[in-house]
Amino acid sequence: MKIEILPSLLAADFGRLADEIIRAEVSGADALHLDIMDPHFVPNLSFGPDVVALSKKVAPNFYRNVHLMMSRPDLYLEKFAAAGAQTLQIHIEADCDLHTELRRIQALGVKRALVLNPETPAERLLPYLDEVDEILVMTVHPGYGGQKFIEECLSKVSLFRKLRPDLDIMIDGGGNSETIPLSAKAGANQFVAGSYLFSQTDMRKAVEDLRKSVKGLVQ
Ligand code: DX5
Ligand code: ZN
Repeated sequence: MKIEILPSLLAADFGRLADEIIRAEVSGADALHLDIMDPHFVPNLSFGPDVVALSKKVAPNFYRNVHLMMSRPDLYLEKFAAAGAQTLQIHIEADCDLHTELRRIQALGVKRALVLNPETPAERLLPYLDEVDEILVMTVHPGYGGQKFIEECLSKVSLFRKLRPDLDIMIDGGGNSETIPLSAKAGANQFVAGSYLFSQTDMRKAVEDLRKSVKGLVQ
C-alpha cells in the first residue's frame, strides 16, 4: 500500500493560513487533511468550504482530504466538492443514510471514506466495506487537535486490514513519531498528524522521518 502522510490544517497558524498550506505542501507531505466541524457532532467549530477553496487556490496540486465531523454531512456534500474536496470522509455516527450518501459522493467524482469514532465498534462498518475507497479510524475523540493517541483503536485497523488487504486505511488523532509506526504495524497506510507536524521548525525533515519510520511496516 502507498504510504501517505497528511498534515492536519487544524493545527496551523490561522493568522497565516495561506503560508501554512504552502508550508505543508513543500514539506513533501502527500495530502492536506482539512477538519470540518459542526458543534452538534463535536464540541467545537472549525472552518467551512472557503478554507478548502483557499487550499485549492494556493496549492492546486496538493491533494485535499476533507474530514466532515458533522451530524448532517449530506447537506454539504456538493458545497465541499465544489470547493475542491478530493476525498470526503463522513462519519458512520452521522445522522443520514450512509449507503445513499456514499453513492452521492461517488457521483460527484470524489473519493468516499467512512470514519469511526473511538467508541464505535468495527462491526458497524462491515455493511459498507465494499462501498468505500478508504476507512478512517479515529485514534482520539474528534473535536480538538493535540490530544493523546488511543492505542486500543488499533485493533479495528488490524481487523479492517485483514478484511480488505487492498484498501486505504487512515488513522487520525495523536499521530507522531511513536504512534505512527505503531499504526503502520497494525495495518494503516495513511497517517494524519496535526500538532506534531505544524509545531516543527523543519516540517520537511519531520515528514521524511515519519515516512522512513513506517517503511517496511506498511504492508
Ligand atoms: C480531531 C481531528 C484531527 C486532528 C488531529 O478532531 O479530526 O484531524 O486535527 O490533530 P493532532 O494530530 O494534533 O491530534
Ligand atoms: Zn481529522
